[in-house]
Amino acid sequence: MCGIVGYIGRQDNPRLGLEALKRLEYRGYDSAGGAWFDLGKRKVSVLKAVGKIKRLEDKFPDYKISGRPFIFHTRWATHGGVTEKNAHPHWDCQKNVFLVHNGIIENFKDLKENLIKEGHRFVSETDTEVLAHLVEKFFQGRLEEAVRKALSLVRGTYALAIIAAKDPEKLVLARNSAPLLIGLGQDEFFGASDPSAVLAHTKKVVYLDDGDMAVLTPANFYIQDFKKNRVDKVIHEIDWTLQEAQKGGYPHFMLKEIMEQPESLANALRGRLITEQGLAKLGGLELVEDKLRQVERLNIIACGTAYLAGMVGEYMLEEYAGIPTETDLASEFRYRKPILDKKTASIFISQSGETLDTLVALREVKRKGGLSLAIVNVVGSSVTRETSAGIYNHAGPEIGVASTKAFTSQLALLALLTLFLGRQRQMSFVMGQRLAREISKLPALAAETLKKTSKQAKKLAKKYHKFNNFLYMGRKYNYPIALEGALKLKEISYIHAEGYGAGEMKHGPLALIDKNFPTFAICPTDSVYEKTFSNMQEIKARKGKIIAVATEGDKEIKSVADDVIYIPRTLEMLTPILAVMPLQLFAYHCSVLRGHDPDYPRSLAKSVTVE
Ligand code: G6P
Repeated sequence: MCGIVGYIGRQDNPRLGLEALKRLEYRGYDSAGGAWFDLGKRKVSVLKAVGKIKRLEDKFPDYKISGRPFIFHTRWATHGGVTEKNAHPHWDCQKNVFLVHNGIIENFKDLKENLIKEGHRFVSETDTEVLAHLVEKFFQGRLEEAVRKALSLVRGTYALAIIAAKDPEKLVLARNSAPLLIGLGQDEFFGASDPSAVLAHTKKVVYLDDGDMAVLTPANFYIQDFKKNRVDKVIHEIDWTLQEAQKGGYPHFMLKEIMEQPESLANALRGRLITEQGLAKLGGLELVEDKLRQVERLNIIACGTAYLAGMVGEYMLEEYAGIPTETDLASEFRYRKPILDKKTASIFISQSGETLDTLVALREVKRKGGLSLAIVNVVGSSVTRETSAGIYNHAGPEIGVASTKAFTSQLALLALLTLFLGRQRQMSFVMGQRLAREISKLPALAAETLKKTSKQAKKLAKKYHKFNNFLYMGRKYNYPIALEGALKLKEISYIHAEGYGAGEMKHGPLALIDKNFPTFAICPTDSVYEKTFSNMQEIKARKGKIIAVATEGDKEIKSVADDVIYIPRTLEMLTPILAVMPLQLFAYHCSVLRGHDPDYPRSLAKSVTVE
């Protein structure tokens, strides 16, 4: 999730762009850069730096530079390591076209190959640089014409801000599935990823939609679709404070991140499913594809919420890919004597890629010559640098300490990995197609789940937040979800909560149940439905209150549950992705109602880099 800024107008001070960029630093910050049309030299100048925006600021010269238009970018790497060369802006061979990009160009490999054949020279490993060369190819004096032609060949997502030395009175913006808006100031216009970048200058913004291209000059602007039809837009007045704007209007990052899950799931799946062939395409595993064919056993190793994602993955991989799988806490694994052989691969899951226990466990596997795979969100993090191969989440930065969107994105990637490994083995073509089809529906199902359960989760939090103890129970795929529901509640609302496999109730926890000890039962219509149902009856018999998470259309559950949260129907192995969402929301609202800050729970850190 990069941040972009563009400017054209009366002021000729590129530092303004830098200041605006600082407001977007929360979106991700492994490197940053800017480019401006230098009014003295009549050419575009560029500055880039690896690290936080402050590093870029330190590189600015002491004397006043005078330039406009300008573009700035803060990067959250997707393709290519975290280096100055890979930082944006990127440019063409002639140093005419300069652009910044947020998104992923899916067909960049093909485009790049063709451009190289045509004589273009590339300097970075990014997908973005392809765009600069494509615009160059079509440039005949009018930047917007070249951009339009270039984008007609592009498949993928983008928010773009583009300038050209040979057409310096223009800033061109274009959007497809990545946020972008125009800020309307006094004799000046901004392009930005979100309103926080422009709030210091204007409260008036126009949001671009997918397929929009905006052409801005110092005097005015217009918006067209890619077929040159004019598009009229409403001007919005933003009355958010800067902090509210960074949270997308939500009161906390955690709620924003919960509500972002349809998007983060779409980002995790983009370009990775070939539904007609029932296959998953995982570029990061290409190099080890043959080795993976030989694998007969899997270890999944992680901490916290990522570990619980791994537990769900274990059920998926055993049931659908037929590979014996064991999930372990990284902090346990590193002190055990893991038996690793050539037929064992170890999968490390980590949002940050910096959790020390996970990293040390990875090093131990490497020392023993084992094959390692990683599922990581933060590009360029330690785990990604040290693993043999991996898959990125592309979930964007997760700021709330309690993991939400990273968790569901990890589950989606485990489903893709299951399909990938399953099809290398005995999984049939038809089953592959079925899995691919169901996986591809996840973003829409997630949106439906959030829409249908948001209000109810808040209401239930109002009803139950004063209870001091909760039990969460589920079976099979939803046993780890019971653990995750309990973990979310305890970490941000400080309510004591226990997660249990529903079958274990009579081995202990049932003794706790009375009218003051409510239970969340995760009970979708699946292969263990009847079993969980009878566990619920045992709770009912002890006057325990029950909140059930059930599949839409299940009326029977009402005979035993006090409250029912319905989630849409999906394949059994994918139910955890939907079932966890109302539990995240419930925990969030309980935290707020009890007067806590869910984003920064006491005593906990986002990334645990100590043992
Ligand atoms: C901390 C965070 C959790 C996270 C865990 C593992 O405890 O609060 O949300 O699940 O670390 O972090 P990782 O970055 O490795 O996924």
